[in-house]
Amino acid sequence: MLKRFFFILIVGLFFSCDKKEKTDISIIPRPEKYLVSENGTIKLNNETRIIYEDPNPALRFLAEDLANQMKARINLHPAVISLSEAKSIGNDITLSVNLADSAYGNEGYVINHNGFKFVSIQANSTKGVFYGVQSLLQLLPIQEIKTEIVELPAITINDNPRFEYRGMHLDVSRHFFPVAFIKQYIDLMAMYKFNTFHWHLTDDQGWRIEIKKYPKLTQIGSIRAKTMIGKDFGENQKFDNTPYGGFYTQDDIREIVEYASQKNITIIPEIEMPGHSLAALTAYPEMGCSGGPYEVGESWGVFEDVYCAKDQTFTFIEDILTEVIDVFPGTYIHIGGDEVPKTRWKNCPACQKRMKTEGLKTEEELQSYFIGRIEKFLVSHNRRLIGWDEILEGGLPPEATVMSWRGTEGGIAAAKMGHNVIMTPGNKCYFDHYQGNTENEPLAIGGLTKVSEVYAYEPIPEELNADQAKHILGAQANVWTEYLPNPVNVTYMVLPRMAALAEVVWSPKEKRDWKIFYAKLNYHFDLYKWMKLNYCQSVNNLYFRVMQNENKQKRLNIESEIPDAVIHFTLNDSIPTNESKIWVKNMNLEEIEKINAAQFVNGKQIGKVFSKNFVIDKL
Ligand code: ACM
Ligand code: ZN
Repeated sequence: MLKRFFFILIVGLFFSCDKKEKTDISIIPRPEKYLVSENGTIKLNNETRIIYEDPNPALRFLAEDLANQMKARINLHPAVISLSEAKSIGNDITLSVNLADSAYGNEGYVINHNGFKFVSIQANSTKGVFYGVQSLLQLLPIQEIKTEIVELPAITINDNPRFEYRGMHLDVSRHFFPVAFIKQYIDLMAMYKFNTFHWHLTDDQGWRIEIKKYPKLTQIGSIRAKTMIGKDFGENQKFDNTPYGGFYTQDDIREIVEYASQKNITIIPEIEMPGHSLAALTAYPEMGCSGGPYEVGESWGVFEDVYCAKDQTFTFIEDILTEVIDVFPGTYIHIGGDEVPKTRWKNCPACQKRMKTEGLKTEEELQSYFIGRIEKFLVSHNRRLIGWDEILEGGLPPEATVMSWRGTEGGIAAAKMGHNVIMTPGNKCYFDHYQGNTENEPLAIGGLTKVSEVYAYEPIPEELNADQAKHILGAQANVWTEYLPNPVNVTYMVLPRMAALAEVVWSPKEKRDWKIFYAKLNYHFDLYKWMKLNYCQSVNNLYFRVMQNENKQKRLNIESEIPDAVIHFTLNDSIPTNESKIWVKNMNLEEIEKINAAQFVNGKQIGKVFSKNFVIDKL
């Protein structure tokens, strides 16, 4: 018997009455334009074929990938055939690069359907078709029971990204992640239409890329003798006494670069200099000011020992970059440049001599000389330099792109000087920060960057005029891994915040809507579960905040991220229900000993009960 499964991919139940919003869809990032027909659906079954315009091996790859994902997700087994093989048309998903509309650029796409049978994904390039496929995949149901017909909303999409740079970073120095996980991270990026992976390959605590000319970089520099435990940097600092290591061979890297390119992701490798280079100095102590000996970092933080600005070091770094350029085909090479203590340079005869001969008045100018010299090398090899915003200190090299991390000031200054900028300010884009109440979350570096704060981030600073704003290429989230030893820890920190950032960098600014985004998260949480990925649900947290009013009276406020949530609470330690008192506004703390509170939408509890005991605080 043919079982029919009417899958209604509508998060609209969440919205009680607005008809227009009822037909919203689960796609993140939200497409630029879409229309869901109220009549009919797109039907897929085992006769559905995936047709690709030939001759085009990249489209065939996409078609096969789509077929595999349909098989895994909805148990349908579509045939994959080329357009020249397809005798007739009907019940097909057709992929083609024949859009011929420059408005869609290199990454935009159009999805059309005809008579609720024929689906076409058209673009100017395979990149655009790839993104169309990603959108289609997010329309597929996540269903427990496999059925023979799957129905999707009858949707037309016209989509284009807002920013050309949509990045995710991963630090593999503080903790190392295997090739299989890097691929999974790339898959997640692709699902959310990110196009740049910033791979932080070297730092004080481990050198993670094979360099054939300097084998000790990985033989010695990839291994630290032990790793600090917890966050106590004082006298009670504890270590695990277990050697820790790992690195990527150049073959691993080539494999990952190829994998990423199939998913339209360019990799920007980061080779840190002149600071954050203790692992390299341990392997080759002659590249430091004191000559060592050094030890690969065992604690987190910033170390005084940095590269010496002598000629020998530049030869060493240029040899390394030559091999890096060889394995990474992308235009940009990130050279770090952040957090460079100047103490060693101040006391080093070679560095002081360099400053004299080059007419450099300060160590900041020596830093600028260092970065400028590396930029000349990269430009002479047809590559472009990116650095953290400290590269502004002492003067920016002529063609450098700046990554603004210490807030937005560096990015604003660089854009005003006509330099390109990628925004990644700590308070919005650092995904190593907590994302919920610290007492409920695994140990993290600090801060609090909630999903809704990421979602509200606007990459174009108000200080810039329209011409200067063109230099903001996009934004990126950074994932530093001091406190993230395993892949499950990384996915927990990025999911769902990377979904929020995806909408910031892809969707039109005026179409971003937290309420709709929040409703879509349910589908994405189900998707993460289906993908067996660890993710965070702190978006359903409540936050108790104590504030003082103008009369110095302590008042309690409660914050929630859930749109239109009604907060019910009790003060007698009973469990709040939707019959309990409703929280309206802040309350005098004197009246509260202990509060229990929970959030309700349409009478249904979302998330758990949150409690706070104020008796101790008041003592
Ligand atoms: C950085 O977070 N040190 C770029
Ligand atoms: Zn020196």
